[in-house]
Amino acid sequence: MNLIEGAFPVERRVADTSSEPAKAPAPPAPASPAADESRPGRSWVPIRSLGPRHRERIVAHLVALDERARYLRFGYQANDAQIARYVDTIDFEHDEVFGIFNRRLALIAMAHLACRAADQKRGREANAEFGVSVLPLARRRGFGRRLFEHAMLHARNRGVVSIFIHALSENTAMLKIARDAGATVQRDGSESEAWLALPPDSFASHVDQFFGDRAAELDYRLKHHAFHVENLFKRSEKT
Ligand SMILES: CC(C)(COP(=O)(O)OP(=O)(O)OC[C@H]1O[C@@H](n2cnc3c(N)ncnc32)[C@H](O)[C@@H]1OP(=O)(O)O)[C@@H](O)C(=O)NCCC(=O)NCCS
Repeated sequence: MNLIEGAFPVERRVADTSSEPAKAPAPPAPASPAADESRPGRSWVPIRSLGPRHRERIVAHLVALDERARYLRFGYQANDAQIARYVDTIDFEHDEVFGIFNRRLALIAMAHLACRAADQKRGREANAEFGVSVLPLARRRGFGRRLFEHAMLHARNRGVVSIFIHALSENTAMLKIARDAGATVQRDGSESEAWLALPPDSFASHVDQFFGDRAAELDYRLKHHAFHVENLFKRSEKT
């Protein structure tokens, strides 16, 4: 199946910027910025912004997904070539891509926020579509949820009014993350759409983003340093 025809809208949009977005239902009340802070057992997760230089690692992450995860992520069982094409079309200038790295510097979770600018002529406000994947070994540790919250924060801060998720109706985890954040979910047979209205940005939301991004960069540099020191030791032990 053709990548673009079979893909969820986020993948179709990156290849065809002229297509009209799906019509949004009336947005629900904006999510509270602090709505999730009451959840128990939450610890900080370093989430980095990714750029064009990360394309190879994004491909490596996505091709590591098994058939079922590819089906859930893309809406069909994307093969390696289709995944590579999708990653090629990610528009890092307009979209945002986030990632979580482990100690070995492998990208274990990533999210793509495909942003559509406001279009006053068509009466459209700025919105964004969210897509996410977490490697099997890293699932159920809250990474999917944290990536969604991170995307919400970044989207708010760039004036995005609502986030949209296109998921298969069987995707309990994704729909739970969306519902818990306050999204309205509309089921249409095997597919579902979730819409979440975002609160406007604030001084606090910009401060959160600023410090969160810098802390994640620092965390990555420390991991990078530790990883290379460890490799040096291993090599010197062998010689
Ligand atoms: C969907 C996905 C991103 C969730 O990632 P995750 O890191 O495992 O999710 P979290 O740990 O943040 O869990 C979020 C919630 O979903 C629940 N959940 C996670 N996996 C679940 C599953 N398989 N069945 C039922 N509930 C599940 C968790 O219990 C959690 O709820 P809780 O906090 O009330 O306990 C991950 O399963 C994945 O990569 N799936 C394949 C790709 C995909 O479906 N992408 C989404 C479409 S764009």
